[in-house]
Amino acid sequence: MNILDLPTKIHDESRQGEAYAPVAQETALFSKKFYIESYGCQMNFSDSEIVAAILHQEGFGATKQFEEASLILLNTCSIREKAEQTIRKRLTEFRKTKEKKPELLIGILGCMAERLKAKLLEEEKLVDIVVGPDAYRSLPALIAEAETGQKAVNVLLSREETYADIAPIRLDSNGVTAFVSIMRGCNNMCSFCVVPFTRGRERSRNADSIVAEVEDLFRRGYREVTLLGQNVDSYHWLNEADNTSVNFAQLLEKVALVNPLLRVRFSTSHPKDITDDVLYIMAKYKNICQYIHLPIQSGNSRILQLMNRTYSREWYLAKVDRIKEIMPDCSISTDIITGFCTETEAEHQDTLSAMEYAQYDYAYMFFYSERPGTLAAKRFTDNVPEAVKKRRLQEIINLQNELSKKSYMNDVGKSFEVLIEGESKKDNLYWKGRNPQNKMLVFPKKQFNYKPGDYVNVLVHDATQATLLGEIIPA
Ligand code: 5AD
Ligand code: SF4
Repeated sequence: MNILDLPTKIHDESRQGEAYAPVAQETALFSKKFYIESYGCQMNFSDSEIVAAILHQEGFGATKQFEEASLILLNTCSIREKAEQTIRKRLTEFRKTKEKKPELLIGILGCMAERLKAKLLEEEKLVDIVVGPDAYRSLPALIAEAETGQKAVNVLLSREETYADIAPIRLDSNGVTAFVSIMRGCNNMCSFCVVPFTRGRERSRNADSIVAEVEDLFRRGYREVTLLGQNVDSYHWLNEADNTSVNFAQLLEKVALVNPLLRVRFSTSHPKDITDDVLYIMAKYKNICQYIHLPIQSGNSRILQLMNRTYSREWYLAKVDRIKEIMPDCSISTDIITGFCTETEAEHQDTLSAMEYAQYDYAYMFFYSERPGTLAAKRFTDNVPEAVKKRRLQEIINLQNELSKKSYMNDVGKSFEVLIEGESKKDNLYWKGRNPQNKMLVFPKKQFNYKPGDYVNVLVHDATQATLLGEIIPA
């Protein structure tokens, strides 16, 4: 298994650059068409749904064929250099289309737009429109400006914008699972990370608007929501009307109470912020999935300090113990960066031993990529040679493959409640869906009359590294 085969949750590499599929009858209503590709984290995919809603109001319908669009948008990611390279290549391709069709507008959204600001427009002439993550409401005005041949840029970051009142358009959905954004930005300043600079200060969305969006999704047949934020555990919304506040544990409970048939997930947790209150709420409600994505980044305390993660190895591993104590069946996944500035061989071994200790079910593994403007770029030298970074990454991947295999094999003989998400891509006689621990199961439909959105109990009889294979247990 290589990095791209992993069941990626946060940076879903398999979805990188995916375009939206329009709902057929809706597209027919619109004279103008836009095409959007999303890269990077789930937050970007969720933001593209907000952008789609803003454009719908302006009379733009989505298309999956960029050739028929008058507006092409790329919602971009800056987290690693490679992400930016992929996007630049894509922009160059679209530029060629524009040479043949000069009226076509090309826009760049998201983190790369924020990081490079007008550079892609002025110096490199790759795009017509540049819009940062907090400026999507100004898209219609920017399109109008670009149509008259002017430069259209808005990269202002906001301390308030949460798009709380915009109902996202779920154009590319399976109709069962949806993302709901609960906060924006990040205040953490991990030294390797560009996100605080591209997405701005942290702010929490109105809890009532979150619950209303979730209720609406449930009414429309959705059966799983994932609450999204860079650091969900620091969610804190102050209701100025009555001076009360809602923290993440309270929000989680409100969402769980929408309906017991609605599954609730969330991502991402920062180990320093996830509280016992959150763990107890997770344990209390059966419909909150027992799965936590808990990025460790490194298993060595000196490196963690350089990364400004604000916890030590021991503190992190004690958090893992606490999770397992309160929820023995809870699965845990993580993010790991290898080859951070000055990382020694012994410190790398600490990461491997921490992985063994935590027994992760999955991990998303990267080698360090220096990002301009970050604290690490300013303070430290990126001095681990690329070959060493890659070798360490491979060792980490090899170990995680073993841990994942063990975790999946350990489920053989067990039964799980599975929410059917759709047909298996490989064989339409099979359903696919996930268990609460976020593992994908594939099982034959047989004579039963189930449909996507139904819950079934599945007995696991076999496992590959990333999928459990089973049979429906008749109700
Ligand atoms: N280099 C490599 N990986 C990074 N991540 C964030 N910034 C960098 C970087 N500069 C990883 C972290 C984070 C995940 C989303 O991406 O592991 O948790
Ligand atoms: Fe980046 Fe750290 Fe914020 Fe995550 S918590 S977005 S890694 S600064």
